[in-house]
Amino acid sequence: MGTSPATSDDGQELPVIELVNVWKRFGAGSPSEVVAVSGVDLKIRPGEFITLIGPSGCGKSTLFNMIGGLEPCDDDGSILMRGRVQQDGELLGKVAFMPQKDLLFPWRTVVDNAILALEVEGVPVRQARERARAMLPDFGLAGFGDHYPHQLSGGMRQRVALMRTFLFERELILLDEPFGALDALTRAMMQRWLLDVWAEHRRTVLFITHDIDEAIFLGDRVVVMSARPGTIKCSETIDLPRPRDASIVTSPEFMAIKRRLLGAVEEESLKSFEAARADARRVGA
Ligand SMILES: Nc1ncnc2c1ncn2[C@@H]1O[C@H](COP(=O)(O)OP(=O)(O)OP(=O)(O)O)[C@@H](O)[C@H]1O
Ligand SMILES: [Mg+2]
Repeated sequence: MGTSPATSDDGQELPVIELVNVWKRFGAGSPSEVVAVSGVDLKIRPGEFITLIGPSGCGKSTLFNMIGGLEPCDDDGSILMRGRVQQDGELLGKVAFMPQKDLLFPWRTVVDNAILALEVEGVPVRQARERARAMLPDFGLAGFGDHYPHQLSGGMRQRVALMRTFLFERELILLDEPFGALDALTRAMMQRWLLDVWAEHRRTVLFITHDIDEAIFLGDRVVVMSARPGTIKCSETIDLPRPRDASIVTSPEFMAIKRRLLGAVEEESLKSFEAARADARRVGA
């Protein structure tokens, strides 16, 4: 944040992150080798909201872990940040990351949960708490700064986890199924709210979901991953006007996009299901 935009030779703003032929093999060379991600190319442009969708087990979280610097990618490919190749471990701390299983510490208040990443960065606690308190209203948590996680609803807990991610001021935010566990009404409310916060705090977002409606409603671009080994099957730019409200999901434009994406997603889900059945037969389950 705060740096002037880097540009390429042709004057274009460089992607925040560029994946070039990214692979991930777990247990490489062993009989139990799992190729989780295979040859992924993806450019994430500044300010873009990308949603990533694909069958369970296709490598979405693995991809996130590599972009977040938690896992190295295999030697075949590279990850560039603003045009610069990142070596193993270099991305750690450069990207704000909300993992799929986001845990709030039950013994910490809302504010103290929110400042965890800042504390790790060495920001003085008093200063970090002030920054968190200033953000509470934006995240619908005004008056709840001193509450503990068990005193909050599921939606509020997700907002604390999101606030923690936004508070860690990084240009790129990775969100791994942040609303997956919420009921439909809370989820719809959180989606609208996330778009407001995104417009207000203007970051680049990569958002994983299993829900096509959510992917289209939120995204500037929906990227579909194939069944494992996960690669990019297709992507679709979402030209729906912003700000978007709930009624957009019934518009003919929305439905047309959904029909196109549904075909791709269902095909991959079916492949993934068949592969799981074949595996089960092989091991005699
Ligand atoms: N640390 C690991 N060691 C070995 N295999 C792993 C590891 N992490 C993930 N995998 C495997 O890699 C594949 C992709 O897993 P990943 O968690 O990325 O899928 P996903 O697309 O996020 O799935 P879901 O939608 O269910 O969250 C799976 O087959 C998984 O078992
Ligand atoms: Mg996952």
